[in-house]
Amino acid sequence: MAERPQIAILGAGIFVRNSYIPRLAEISDLFILKAIWSRSQESAKGAVEIAKKFFPEVECKWGEAGLDDIIQNSSIIGVAVVLAGQTQVDMSLRLLKAGKHVLQEKPAASSISEVETALSSYNSFGTTLPSRPIWAIAENYRFEPAFLESKKMMAEIGDVMNVQVIIEGSMNSSNPYFSSSWRRDFTGGFILDMGVHFIAGLRMMVGCEITSVSANTSHIDTTLPPPDIISSTIQLENGCSGVFVMVVSSRSPKVLWRVVGLKGTIQVERGNKEGKHGYSVALFTAGGQSNSWFYPFCGVTEELKTFLSDISTVTLKKNQSYQAEPRLSYLEGARDIAVLDAMLESGKRQGAPVQVKRF
Ligand SMILES: *[C@@H]1O[C@H](CO)[C@@H](O)[C@H](O)[C@H]1NC(C)=O
Ligand SMILES: *[C@@H]1O[C@H](CO)[C@@H](O)[C@H](O)[C@H]1NC(C)=O
Ligand SMILES: *[C@@H]1O[C@H](CO)[C@@H](O)[C@H](O)[C@H]1NC(C)=O
Ligand SMILES: *[C@@H]1O[C@H](CO)[C@@H](O)[C@H](O)[C@H]1NC(C)=O
Repeated sequence: MAERPQIAILGAGIFVRNSYIPRLAEISDLFILKAIWSRSQESAKGAVEIAKKFFPEVECKWGEAGLDDIIQNSSIIGVAVVLAGQTQVDMSLRLLKAGKHVLQEKPAASSISEVETALSSYNSFGTTLPSRPIWAIAENYRFEPAFLESKKMMAEIGDVMNVQVIIEGSMNSSNPYFSSSWRRDFTGGFILDMGVHFIAGLRMMVGCEITSVSANTSHIDTTLPPPDIISSTIQLENGCSGVFVMVVSSRSPKVLWRVVGLKGTIQVERGNKEGKHGYSVALFTAGGQSNSWFYPFCGVTEELKTFLSDISTVTLKKNQSYQAEPRLSYLEGARDIAVLDAMLESGKRQGAPVQVKRF
């Protein structure tokens, strides 16, 4: 049997407990979970208790000393960083510098200036480390079959004329992330934290970049951090235009992408079928014909599998010529931030057109 990579998780919050641990448990034969770390002992212990059911060997680590144990232990080759959005980049860089492969939870950074410093630090490791560790961003949408399939269907709709992304979220007090303290203090609010997913979905489908935006932002639901509403026009590098609308909390949630081409339209919409949450993809073609398919969510699992396979190939099989999966790269996460950062900037300037920074 092939050697399994050993990994650690930094963070013990809701997302680790409700998403990372159960998804990792489904693929527990692919790796060894060595440790879960948190700033506080109590929080680390809480997550370790949940994880022990699936990973009886997992160790509980906390504080600076616990972090050092993880960093110093060369048998741990990969680390998932699932911390407050404001601290993730610093932590990821610290681990990368120590030679660990990192899977950082989105968003890739908390601002465009943080993206720039992050990329220049990471690129500088290329010259100081024998080989640069992988820095992956967990955003999962690039791994959802709905987006992979709709990307393949793009050829059937001919030249793209227009794109529409309409998001009405359900971030109200019933949502476990609603009161999460770091999200309350995050510049860009839930628009940046959640919005990267929707931009990732769009970029993935159309396979081309957004070049400039003009947006109005507002803050109407004061139970949410600002801004909670954004209406943006977007310009794509293929010459077509579109709209991106996001309402963080709505009474009638809707998550929808439409790409309108000369010969047809592709629509992706969140929904559920037979008790499973996922996306339905519809293809409308000439003569009023339409076909639709339903794809249950599996992006988080697919993404974790890809990261584990990448780090095994690079470190355990020592294949240095191997290219890590580009859909997981820090750059892709950075590009999603760049689009939202431009929209938020335009919103601050009453809708003035803003160029999206290229990475
Ligand atoms: C690192 O982990 C290995 C394998 O679990 C363990 O045997 C070893 O004691 C650890 N080393 C340090 C320095 O903590
Ligand atoms: C929050 O939104 C969900 C989904 O729309 C809804 O079922 C729930 O009743 C809402 N809760 C509150 C407190 O408004
Ligand atoms: C290393 O990775 C490259 C690129 O993916 C692949 O072509 C090659 O076969 C791999 N080499 C080994 C020894 O697995
Ligand atoms: C929205 O953008 C338009 C066009 O730039 C601008 O005239 C208007 O003042 C903006 N509205 C708000 C509420 O910022």
